[in-house]
Amino acid sequence: MTWRGVIEQYRSRLDVDDGTHIVTLGEGNTPLLHSQRLSEKTGLEVYLKYEGTNPTGSFKDRGMTMAITKAAASGAEAVVCASTGNTSASAAAYAARAGMLCVVLIPSGNVASGKLAQALVHGAKVVEIKGNFDQAFEITRKLEGPYPVVVVNSTNPYRLEGQKTGAFEICDRLERAPDYHLIPVGNAGNITSYWRGYREYKADGLIGSLPQMFGFQAQGSAPIVLGYPVESPKTIATAIRIGRPASWEGANNAASESGGQICSVSDRSILEAYRLLAFEGVFAELASSAPVAGLLQLSAEGRLEKGKTAVCVLTGHGLKDPSWAISGAPRPELVEANIDTVARAFGF
Ligand code: F0G
Repeated sequence: MTWRGVIEQYRSRLDVDDGTHIVTLGEGNTPLLHSQRLSEKTGLEVYLKYEGTNPTGSFKDRGMTMAITKAAASGAEAVVCASTGNTSASAAAYAARAGMLCVVLIPSGNVASGKLAQALVHGAKVVEIKGNFDQAFEITRKLEGPYPVVVVNSTNPYRLEGQKTGAFEICDRLERAPDYHLIPVGNAGNITSYWRGYREYKADGLIGSLPQMFGFQAQGSAPIVLGYPVESPKTIATAIRIGRPASWEGANNAASESGGQICSVSDRSILEAYRLLAFEGVFAELASSAPVAGLLQLSAEGRLEKGKTAVCVLTGHGLKDPSWAISGAPRPELVEANIDTVARAFGF
């Protein structure tokens, strides 16, 4: 069967009427890659759910097809979001597809260039604030009501509905749920969605057991781990630089109900995981490397049982922010254009 996006694929599990025009870019159906190196390192069977292959390069597309489909069906002409970058890239693309206006509020200086480029190329109206994501989000929420816009952040209920399809795809592929599910946590919508998806499959008898859910925040931006909001969150993983997550409770519930935990990982370990993934051919952005850093941390602490199956969700593509890849590597050598100098440069 040809793939026509997550709404068509999981229509019976999503609240979309038959006559509704579906706004899709063919999102979902992302690879679940077995990782030889991480499996060897940890003694687990490790899989990577590579969400970077979605149309705009992140998992946000799963929820955005739902949010924009519903917004368009309701007659809305404009959508708005606050974003650390990926939500705005996705909202801009899906709004363009639907012929709607998209307005975006981002924290100045803390959005990767690829993500900003996406919002701009799709014609979104982008405004930067002299503040962080949490402040942008607070303002955005207040716009709905007095102004004719629909908020498409993950507080939009359709976003979380769409994102649960990630859990369905994992179970469909493995023909069961993994034992451990590891995922980055920023605004905490995605972990909430995945947990909902797994529980739905379990309730319908499609899987026999549920995974333990482990969410990972960056150490300088770890409000859920600390138990209180962080006023000035800091991390190199700008996608999850969030001090006051909207779905805080959802994340806590996922962790506690499943016997998992919300943990933090250092920026240094995120960067190491980023490089490790890249050396296995998988280019994921820094935030996406947090669950891999977390996997290695929990495994080193002996908290994961060997032989079990673990899935790490790699939420966004590495090309979103090439600066980290380039800064960590030697500059290419510039030589004369002839075979001898080229061969010498290669060390042949
Ligand atoms: N990974 C990436 C690449 C993200 O862009 C985000 C969130 C997350 C993980 C965390 O997901 O918020 O559901 O816990 N990015 C949002 C944005 C905040 O604006 O693009 P979450």
